[in-house]
Amino acid sequence: MDIKITKTTSPKTKPTGPLGFGKIFTDHMFVMEYTEGKGWHDAEIVPYQNLSLAPSAMVFHYGQEMFEGLKAYKGADGKTRLFRPEMNAKRTNASNERLCIPELPVEYFVEAVKAVVKVDEDWIPTEPGTSLYIRPFIIATDEFLGVAPSKTYKFIIILSPSGAYYASGLAPVGIWIEDEYVRAVKGGMGFAKTGGNYAASLIAQVKAHDDGYSQVLWLDGVERKYIEEVGAMNIFFKIDGKIVTPMLNGSILPGITRNSVIQLCKSWGLEVEERKISVDELLDAQKNGKLEEVFGTGTAAVISPVGKLRYCNDVMTINGGEIGPVSQKIYDSITGIQNGTVEDTFGWITEVK
Ligand code: PLP
Ligand code: COI
Repeated sequence: MDIKITKTTSPKTKPTGPLGFGKIFTDHMFVMEYTEGKGWHDAEIVPYQNLSLAPSAMVFHYGQEMFEGLKAYKGADGKTRLFRPEMNAKRTNASNERLCIPELPVEYFVEAVKAVVKVDEDWIPTEPGTSLYIRPFIIATDEFLGVAPSKTYKFIIILSPSGAYYASGLAPVGIWIEDEYVRAVKGGMGFAKTGGNYAASLIAQVKAHDDGYSQVLWLDGVERKYIEEVGAMNIFFKIDGKIVTPMLNGSILPGITRNSVIQLCKSWGLEVEERKISVDELLDAQKNGKLEEVFGTGTAAVISPVGKLRYCNDVMTINGGEIGPVSQKIYDSITGIQNGTVEDTFGWITEVK
């Protein structure tokens, strides 16, 4: 893939102080076009700028779009590392297939990410807990109001130096188990990373926030009985010594952090179960003192301990509202591999050179 690079003539001032999540953008972005009959073409890195799109562009009307999320980490050794970027590329194509967006070759995705991160490498923050969040996305650009797949698309990558996703950092969050709204059902788009899933989640998130909870934990859309995932992360429980997480069932996102945590825990000899987990099972485990730890996993959220889970009139406090030992060990191992202080025995790291 040939990438034309045009560098900015007016670099922005880099941020100092707390970064928050997803608020600051670097000097450059990657853009590539798709045209039916021609395929993906005109890969470019250009100064970060507004897009010019017709108001009739299809993405604005029927939401034909997908996005991804990964991070670049700057180690104390000065190396820039990506964590399993080919998994994001493969998931892009799983989302694309569901949304009738044309396939994007895995090597184009990975090459584009590496190239734009390289150009803005000096934007990668180095404070503990910070990284460069990478947001690749594809939008439908045909000027057409009929409901049909677009014939043209843009693939864009923007970069955002970021700190913790939750304001509380590694302090345990409170999660609201949603009993009224649902996010996705099998056969829908739950497994795809597409804006519509997040739009559908907002109403419950507002409700949870109003009640002092950070995010929503979704139940299955049919029986409203089984645990699915959190708004921006997968969920894990330590119940009676075992690590348990909902199995991939078509309505939850197959998280890359989730997959990595499962592999890590198994490598330590922990028993891991991917299965259905009912909210009643959690309530029972809590009553019997067997709900030992709860944590979420995600690129933005990293490993996020859950200190409080609310379901209707029940509020479960987990591990006294403190991070548990297994959650802490997983956090240390994953972030250590990402930053280069823990050996990458799984081959998860791609260096940006
Ligand atoms: N589930 C949802 C709904 C998400 O938005 C995310 C974030 O990407 C995840 C799970 C975790 O996925 P990953 O670990 O690949 O970031
Ligand atoms: C990510 O973790 O990369 C995500 O996409 C979550 C996002 C909704 C902030």
